[in-house]
Amino acid sequence: MQANDFESIRIQAESEAVTISTPQGLEEFRLKYLGRKGLLARASAIIPTLSQEERAEFGRKLNILKKALTVLVEEKAKTVAAKDSGSSINRIDLGLPGIAQELGRLHPITQVIDEICALFTRMGFIVVEGPEIETEYNNFTGLNIPLEHPSRDTFDTFYLKPKTDNLKPATKYLLRSHTSPVQVRAMKSRKPPLSIVVPGRVYRPDAVDASHSFMFHQVEGFLVDKGIKFSDLKGILEVFAKGIFGENIKMRFRPHFFPFTEPSAEVDISCIICQGKGCSVCGRKGWLEVLGCGMIHPNVFKHVGINAKTYTGFAFGMGVERIAMLKYGINDIRLFFENDLRFLKQF
Ligand code: DAH
Repeated sequence: MQANDFESIRIQAESEAVTISTPQGLEEFRLKYLGRKGLLARASAIIPTLSQEERAEFGRKLNILKKALTVLVEEKAKTVAAKDSGSSINRIDLGLPGIAQELGRLHPITQVIDEICALFTRMGFIVVEGPEIETEYNNFTGLNIPLEHPSRDTFDTFYLKPKTDNLKPATKYLLRSHTSPVQVRAMKSRKPPLSIVVPGRVYRPDAVDASHSFMFHQVEGFLVDKGIKFSDLKGILEVFAKGIFGENIKMRFRPHFFPFTEPSAEVDISCIICQGKGCSVCGRKGWLEVLGCGMIHPNVFKHVGINAKTYTGFAFGMGVERIAMLKYGINDIRLFFENDLRFLKQF
């Protein structure tokens, strides 16, 4: 073996190494050059046949080549290993679990609205919706709340900037402060008998705190037919309250004033926390207010063109957030609107 043979072996090995791409290929390469029966081992077999001087020179060159090829194998091992793991990432393993999609769900307020509406539709009511931008007439005047009446303050709301001044109530627009104006719309456009529930958003210029919000939801309900009595109202509301809060709750009707009903009442249920004994949630009263109601005022019938001598009816209205807060023991209305998934995921 000549000195330039070492050089040609190195060149040959280097060009072969470029084409290696698998661990098996690298192992074959290693055995070919560095293995026990490899090229270098066979070359060293000729050492005993050499003279003293030649041996030293031969041995030195053989060692240099051995080191160079060992480094080459080690370097190559790194790239082959990296490629190998890269290809396993790209391989599809059908046995692995998939990436779970987060399922959305209905907002708790939507769930409670659906639950309330389902209770009433089971009793024959239909669901009707109305616009959030209402006329002053439908929000107030048509509901027997005249312009100067002090009860307007309770329902006062955000007005839309008029294009011209001195608009009549029918063309003056505002954000509705309750769902009651849909009574006016529905009674004008349909003929009795009517049994309707109206879910929707309402607006009031209230400062936001734990129990107030400038926007919240209501469900309005009303029924108009011949011979409708206050006892019908009581019966329907009892089915509603027991359906939402449970069979064991008690109800009471307290006289109240609403301009659009006469007589009017507020309805309380026995406290669901203390069962009427008195606790911090019910302010030691044992009762929780849940809605307002009454017999539809003859003036409302007059506005919508229904003959109050032939027809009577009842109406009621409730705040959905309040019902949801009582049902689930939530103590801050703001939780519904902050979009915090830690809260929303519980429903
Ligand atoms: N509109 C009333 C409010 O926002 C709630 C209400 C009370 C509605 C009595 C009614 C009713 O239909 O009869 O406070």
